Amino acid sequence: MAFTEEQINRLGSSFQLIEPRLDDVVSVFYTKLFDAAPALRSMFPDDLGGQKKHMNSALKLVANNVANIEKLAGPLREMGARHVGYGAQEAQFPVVRDIMVDSLAEVAGYVWTPQLSSDWGAALDAVAGYMIEGMRGEQAKAA
Ligand code: HEM
Repeated sequence: MAFTEEQINRLGSSFQLIEPRLDDVVSVFYTKLFDAAPALRSMFPDDLGGQKKHMNSALKLVANNVANIEKLAGPLREMGARHVGYGAQEAQFPVVRDIMVDSLAEVAGYVWTPQLSSDWGAALDAVAGYMIEGMRGEQAKAA
């Protein structure tokens, strides 16, 4: 999906606000995720330190490349294919998206708006769309 200039600008400027506090966003994210879905905890390593770094770079990548997200189709499909091995399922993507948006909103505080929730939801859906293509490709290979 193509993003409007307004969306791209809002994503970019909200990311600048959040960027110094990305570690907080990722901590809040995992707390909320395992609260909402405790069964997912065992999919992740005991030590989430490495995972936090990965999610941190993934958020940065989304924010900086949303204007040309299709250029990331290849790496995002590969990332999706790896998620088959992690045991991730397509139905979990909207859950992860909503929790990520809530985590961004919580850390950003009063400057956050419903508009930003919808912009970030759309950006994460675009990423998930490519990841799910990669997951399906991987599953077709295995079948
Ligand atoms: C937009 C959605 C998502 C993004 C951007 C994302 C991002 C990432 C990244 C960057 C990694 C690091 C390793 C790698 O690159 O392969 C990772 C690992 C992982 N993700 Fe995701 N992910 C998403 C959705 C999901 C979903 C829906 C699940 C299912 C619960 C999930 C479960 C996992 C697990 C279990 C790991 C591996 C932990 C490990 O063994 O080190 N992810 N994810």
